[in-house]
Amino acid sequence: MTVRVGVLVSGRGTNLAALLAAEAAGELAPAEIVVVISNKPGVRALEIAADAGKPALVVDHRTAGGREAFEHALLAALAQHGVETVVLAGFMRVLTSTFVSAYPQRIVNTHPALLPAFPGTDGPAQAIAHGVKVAGVTVHFVDTGVDTGPIIAQRAVPVLPGDTAETLHHRIQVEEHRLLPAVVRALAQGRLVCEGRTVAIRGADADQLL
Ligand code: GAR
Repeated sequence: MTVRVGVLVSGRGTNLAALLAAEAAGELAPAEIVVVISNKPGVRALEIAADAGKPALVVDHRTAGGREAFEHALLAALAQHGVETVVLAGFMRVLTSTFVSAYPQRIVNTHPALLPAFPGTDGPAQAIAHGVKVAGVTVHFVDTGVDTGPIIAQRAVPVLPGDTAETLHHRIQVEEHRLLPAVVRALAQGRLVCEGRTVAIRGADADQLL
């Protein structure tokens, strides 16, 4: 049985592209991307979605009439496409309980830092500014906090001498583009079990992660 996935984006869409590539390669099943929604018009992610033949919509947070109305509009668009699971792929808006309670443990986000360190915006820049030696990516369930939900999977990458926020982000994204599709597949397969803050991954290959 297919699990209908809606992807929310705000910008470049490299994670969306990774999800679409995984889907095209048959590596996302039973997840199927049925709609892509951006809160910003004119972003590259919308072109990537359209090029892949996916419905690509804009729900603009600036013209929606407030946060509550914005989230209701998002929920309506997702419902129209029969979405069961939501993936935040570079979606840069914090969601309230209005949205989150509609998809209990069915919303995942990717963040370019080893949470709980460096939440919010510019994770790689925060890591550089702090002088950490190890950075990485976290994929987690979404709650109403800023990057605070239960952690599903993480991958570490080294911070190298001379790194800038850009070079570090690029190294993180190599891992991110593998990890996010793997998590989406595992979630669609029903292999993620969340108890409190702890997420277990069922399946023989759980050591490899997903
Ligand atoms: C990604 O690295 C994602 O982890 C980050 O924005 C980038 C979007 O790139 N998200 C956050 O920082 C969320 N707090 P993309 O548009 O190319 O996928």
